[in-house]
Amino acid sequence: MKMSKILLMAAVISSLFSVSSFAQSNAKLVKEGKKIFLSKKLGNCLACHNIAGMKVPQAGALGPKLAHLSSYPTSFLYNKIYNPYTTNPVSQMPPFGKNAILSNQQIKAVVAFLKTIK
Ligand code: HEC
Repeated sequence: MKMSKILLMAAVISSLFSVSSFAQSNAKLVKEGKKIFLSKKLGNCLACHNIAGMKVPQAGALGPKLAHLSSYPTSFLYNKIYNPYTTNPVSQMPPFGKNAILSNQQIKAVVAFLKTIK
């Protein structure tokens, strides 16, 4: 086999590995985010939000039903959770980041989970 072919194959194989490890780490993040979202002690998001694709009879309705979030920009979702007053000065949603209820990493995980909501 020609050296150039070997190098090309090596590049293809290594790029496959990095794609699958991204998918893996994203799946982990989504799982962590879902846990935070459902947890009463952390996000407690269900106190105010119902969510498309899940049957949650006890979910609150102070906030809108969360749907189609996969098409929202990641930065919008991050900012909404970090400090909802930036987009809505009279929001009843707590500023999870600004008030240090959730860490940056926890908010990123919640956003990864929200991006899976169709
Ligand atoms: C105390 C009630 C309350 C809690 C708890 C709460 N929210 Fe909200 N949320 C709201 C309200 C009210 C709005 C609508 C006003 C606004 O956009 O700021 C909202 C808006 C949103 C939006 C924008 C939805 C859209 O379609 O524009 C997202 C996304 C969201 N919340 C996610 C979350 C997540 C994730 C959590 C948990 C970490 C959470 N919320 C916890 C009350 C709440």
